[in-house]
Amino acid sequence: MNMVFSGNVELARIHGLKNANVDMHSHLLAGFDDGVRRLEDAIEIIQQMKAKGLEALFWTPHHNLNTFPGISAETIEMHFEKFAPLIEQKTGIQLFCGAELYGSPPLPGKLVPLGKSDFVLIEFPLDIYPRYLFDLVYQIQIAGYRVVIAHIERYQWLFPVRKRFLKKTIDYTLMEELKNKGVYFQINYSVLTNRTKYQYLTPVLKDKKIEFIGSDKHHCEDNRPLIDFSDLEDRSF
Ligand SMILES: [Fe+2]
Repeated sequence: MNMVFSGNVELARIHGLKNANVDMHSHLLAGFDDGVRRLEDAIEIIQQMKAKGLEALFWTPHHNLNTFPGISAETIEMHFEKFAPLIEQKTGIQLFCGAELYGSPPLPGKLVPLGKSDFVLIEFPLDIYPRYLFDLVYQIQIAGYRVVIAHIERYQWLFPVRKRFLKKTIDYTLMEELKNKGVYFQINYSVLTNRTKYQYLTPVLKDKKIEFIGSDKHHCEDNRPLIDFSDLEDRSF
């Protein structure tokens, strides 16, 4: 099969997976950040993901967020080691450890990349442009990692609306500048199940400027759709 998101394909290649049915953004190892609380629920959601074609799942708990001061690279790795083998055994899905770094200075001394890759997933404040954006990107890159900005559809500041006469257009300048700095982009799968809401992403999807897709699934009640992997095969936007 031909998964259309090249970043998911690269993660699959790095981890020796048979196909690229990888969900690279989730909060599904029970009882850690604001993700699922109960182990049974985690297992149930991952089994539902498997029924939709999932082969491997990355756990990406929040890191560097003020809400969870006790979370560090060490506690993330310890929690993963404790629960991942059991979930893998119950579901038959391969799990990999990662994190969703909150983009606010100062960055933690130790970052958690996605599995064995050099990709660091990072999120930013949703409503206000982070003035330190390019500085943090540079800091992560000189530490030897590639930067993936999480769920880009959620940042109003990344897709400003310009009004010219009576016509509204989206300004993609900042996205282009980040691209020129070697930054990668991720969307949540909900973008593809609600194309009307996210019409402004169609040009960049067509141009293959978004490399990664994940569910960002937290728990049973979050209304975030699970990735239907047959929907990502040989498709155009
Ligand atoms: Fe997330």
